[in-house]
Amino acid sequence: MQQRTLGSDLTVSAIGLGCMGMSEFYGPRDDSESLRVLARALELGIDFFDTADMYGPHHNEALIGRFLASHKPKVRIATKFGIVRNPGEYQRSLNSSAAYARNACEASLRRLGIEQIDLYYVHRVNPDTPIEETMEGLAQLVKEGKIAHIGLCEVSADTLRRAHAVHPVTAVQTEYSLWTRDVEQAVLPTCQELGIGFVPYSPLGRGFLTGKLQENTDFGEGDFRPNLPRFSEQAMHANRRIADVIGEMANHKGSTPAQLSLAWLLSKGDNIVPIPGTKRLRYLEENTAATSITLSADEQQRLEAATERLPVTGERYTPEGMKGVNA
Ligand SMILES: NC(=O)c1ccc[n+]([C@@H]2O[C@H](COP(=O)([O-])OP(=O)(O)OC[C@H]3O[C@@H](n4cnc5c(N)ncnc54)[C@H](OP(=O)(O)O)[C@@H]3O)[C@@H](O)[C@H]2O)c1
Repeated sequence: MQQRTLGSDLTVSAIGLGCMGMSEFYGPRDDSESLRVLARALELGIDFFDTADMYGPHHNEALIGRFLASHKPKVRIATKFGIVRNPGEYQRSLNSSAAYARNACEASLRRLGIEQIDLYYVHRVNPDTPIEETMEGLAQLVKEGKIAHIGLCEVSADTLRRAHAVHPVTAVQTEYSLWTRDVEQAVLPTCQELGIGFVPYSPLGRGFLTGKLQENTDFGEGDFRPNLPRFSEQAMHANRRIADVIGEMANHKGSTPAQLSLAWLLSKGDNIVPIPGTKRLRYLEENTAATSITLSADEQQRLEAATERLPVTGERYTPEGMKGVNA
């Protein structure tokens, strides 16, 4: 497995594993299968697991904690704070204050059963809290050894610069994929300029870009995608052509659409480490194999040209979910 470096010194496998769906958002969970996926990821050389305190709350961190306790693996753990939710409720609020960061960090360390979080992200910046205050609080946690590196999710380029001036930011995590390329305008160039890593989340468009989801897909209970504007029946119908084009080009390349989508992200910069999410062994193995696919400049350009000309229907979040995005 190739390695990539986020920021100045956080070296991780070229793709990580998104663990969110092991707890909620994409249908029912199965802890035994998820534990097998985590173990197989290690065997395949994936050493970068992505979680957050609000996934499940707080099932996902506890599940990873269980895995770490039994396997004692050499793995980098990225987790997040700042979206406050009660178990069983979707209602949420944002809190990026330094005092909250400290309490949340200590709770995450306990659930994960570790002494240090490798990469601690602000999950969403609350615009009422100056980013400088948040960063000073996080810098203190670095000094105390509770966290090793600091990350920010869904921030604007301006907030990123202000944050980085207080303490080095190791990685930005924001949605980025063939159908969500907003970060190319300012955030990604800023990361490249400042030597900051970039971690694309939902790199498979929450599964849509794999071609396996269609307007008649029955998402079932516990799947939040039908609530997202981009996954309404009408939007999925309109967006169908995007998945089809990726499917056609993947076929031509001899890869799967998921692999082509990940290979494209990997080709966009050495500082990029996508974290495809899955709770299934077969998807994990398929996605991991994307690291051995190389796109030529011509293939990259053709894929971009073919998808760019297809406008995407539907926002990626509801208005409530857009709070704290590009903050
Ligand atoms: N910072 C943030 O605000 C934020 C937001 C969202 C996500 N994240 C992080 O990013 C990670 C990845 O994003 P994501 O999970 O939202 O989206 P994703 O990786 O784009 O897609 C995940 C979905 O695609 C399916 N899938 C995975 N590989 C597949 C394959 N090869 N073929 C067909 N379907 C496949 C999964 O199915 P199964 O579920 O059936 O395995 C799951 O439903 C998350 O796990 C989480 O850690 C962060």
